[in-house]
Amino acid sequence: MPKNLTRPDVPHAIAPPPIPDNRIVTLDEFIIRSEKDFEYATGELTGLLRDIGVAAKIINREVNKAGLVNILGVSSGNENQSGDVQQKLDVYANERLVECLQNSGECCAVASEENDDIIPVPGVGYKPNHYVVLFDPLDGSSNIDVNVSVGTIFAIYRRISDPSGPPSREDFLQPGKRQVAAGYVLYGTSTILVYTTGRGVNGFTLDPSIGEFCLSHRNMRIPDNGQNYSVNQGYYSKFDLEMRRYIDHCSDQNYGLRYIGSMVSDIHRILIHGGIFLYPSTRKYPGGKLRLLYECNPLAMIVEQAGGKAINTGLKRILDIAPGELHQRSTVALGSPAMVDELKAFIERYSALPI
Ligand code: AHG
Ligand code: MN
Ligand code: MN
Repeated sequence: MPKNLTRPDVPHAIAPPPIPDNRIVTLDEFIIRSEKDFEYATGELTGLLRDIGVAAKIINREVNKAGLVNILGVSSGNENQSGDVQQKLDVYANERLVECLQNSGECCAVASEENDDIIPVPGVGYKPNHYVVLFDPLDGSSNIDVNVSVGTIFAIYRRISDPSGPPSREDFLQPGKRQVAAGYVLYGTSTILVYTTGRGVNGFTLDPSIGEFCLSHRNMRIPDNGQNYSVNQGYYSKFDLEMRRYIDHCSDQNYGLRYIGSMVSDIHRILIHGGIFLYPSTRKYPGGKLRLLYECNPLAMIVEQAGGKAINTGLKRILDIAPGELHQRSTVALGSPAMVDELKAFIERYSALPI
């Protein structure tokens, strides 16, 4: 065990009482109670999850009044590192998250869809920090101007560089299976924060009357099978043969097509009702469009923790992919285990055939 993890002064022998069924449990209370799940917990991870909860409330406030405060539309002359147009709310959400994580100084660096490189975070006082946080501050941002649900996605890793030195890119380039926590916030008909620390998935709905996220979806489990598939079918002719055959099969089976265009929203529906989400290679994005580190990995961890599966179209488990770059893209298929297995069979059967 690395020396910096040893905290003999922090006893974990006294477990707090179980969370009762019959009263409101806030996100903060839940996080603090769950700290006992982590051996040698120092409170940093707890603090990080709370920081993200605070940033989510601030972003939620702005998303909700977006039409009133001149924050809709494209940010002036801005494109992010991937060449995507930045919306004003992308920029706003990014700034709030960076700010919340920097102010608390609980992590040593952050990385975002909206920033080219990692952003080191100075510690508060003399305290080496052990975690890095990656995020997509606003997912589905092309939906903002039309009042359709958007989200925030985050992933937390324990750094692998020496905690007494500066953070490095390698701290972020770890396979998704090393995530210590991952989650999303969905700014929908209600606002919900869903996260996992590798011990199941729980969801917390924001109660606007008290300004707190309250436990509403305990131990979320994805249905084994589903009746819906989620893909941008407008690109059908640009998909590989095996994907077209699988989509034809979904249609033959009378599965419903549901595609919101905010991955967070599509995944949230799938977590609750079952189904499969696909973003395969297209001619424009031969390696897939979605970003491995802050879109695919965190949502793959959530889906797996809820009993689902997540693979790329090369049939590799998303969480096993060793990343090479911060903004790397990946193809992705995730959701109900039976549906992912069925897709896998189509890929095995048709991928060797000529297109
Ligand atoms: P972002 O807004 O963070 O750039 O992400 C958009 C992503 C994802 O949320 C969504 O599923 C997908 O892009 C939609 O892409 P298409 O419009 O190509 O279907
Ligand atoms: Mn996104
Ligand atoms: Mn985004």
